[in-house]
Amino acid sequence: MSDLMRTYPVLNVKSHSPVMKSFYFRQPVPDIQPGRFFNVWLPGVDEKPFSVSDVYQGIMEITVKAVGPFTRKMMDVRRGDLLGLRGPFGRGFSHHQHALLVGGGMGVVPLRYLARQLRQRGFHFEVLLGGRCGQDIPFQNDFSEWAPTTFVTDDGSLGYKGLVADYMQDKIRESRLSFVYSSGPEAMLVKVMDLAAQAGLDYEISFERYMKCGIGICGQCVVDGSGIRLCKEGPVLTRQEAEKVSEWGLPHRDATGRRNNS
Ligand SMILES: Cc1cc2nc3c(=O)[nH]c(=O)nc-3n(C[C@H](O)[C@H](O)[C@H](O)COP(=O)(O)OP(=O)(O)OC[C@H]3O[C@@H](n4cnc5c(N)ncnc54)[C@H](O)[C@@H]3O)c2cc1C
Ligand code: FES
Repeated sequence: MSDLMRTYPVLNVKSHSPVMKSFYFRQPVPDIQPGRFFNVWLPGVDEKPFSVSDVYQGIMEITVKAVGPFTRKMMDVRRGDLLGLRGPFGRGFSHHQHALLVGGGMGVVPLRYLARQLRQRGFHFEVLLGGRCGQDIPFQNDFSEWAPTTFVTDDGSLGYKGLVADYMQDKIRESRLSFVYSSGPEAMLVKVMDLAAQAGLDYEISFERYMKCGIGICGQCVVDGSGIRLCKEGPVLTRQEAEKVSEWGLPHRDATGRRNNS
């Protein structure tokens, strides 16, 4: 791991939609666990955290959705531009057989790299992915090729209409799956934790908080009830760790470190 910023040329850029792109770099360190993340520095703009969406044949990919000033600027990045990378940070997913991967929105990003690794190991797994609409869900072809995959969208433009959690219990029951991985919006994760616990299943879930240092020193990403720093002990937590936290579903710390209770 390196907490030193190093610059890397962008080897390629792939567009998924007008607001979502993947960027490719030479793999900066040998072993990168799915679920870990890099702080990406866009010179003259800022530095922000992004999960690794794939590592394949010595090339690392990150995938960005334009939601604000930094990520909108990322949409202008071209092949050959230099970006800074610091990481990989945090703890990622471990490998489990007969798992259900449950992703929502950009939460599917770390699950895509996890799916590649599970498939490489010959593990059986299934996938349940949700988004506002079909365009919101990247890597549809990869997931569908690698495992039985169900899509759920708010507007019904891809797969079933509704919310991911509406389909999760049936999927676990029908397929006799024994472990859950999840990543996505916190409202979805709270339901996933509840449904997995009701079914008596262990899980690993990736949580997001506003991150600054990425290396555990600033305290910005501490989650209440546990002392867990999500950039260091997370972003992926086990069921035992996640159950210690008392603030899931409540307002997070904003960029100033204050809780935004509005
Ligand atoms: C561990 C982790 C992995 C992530 N992986 C991805 C990914 O693979 N792809 C992707 O598109 N996005 C990912 N994000 C979210 C991404 O970091 C934010 O969307 C981005 O920082 C927004 O910056 P902005 O200036 O464009 O938007 P802003 O307008 O500043 O913010 C838009 C949203 O992003 C959040 N955000 C802004 N800055 C940060 C920050 N420093 N840390 C955490 N959240 C922030 C804000 O709270 C707000 O909810 C990840 C976040 C974390 C913590
Ligand atoms: S971002 Fe600084 S402690 Fe986690």
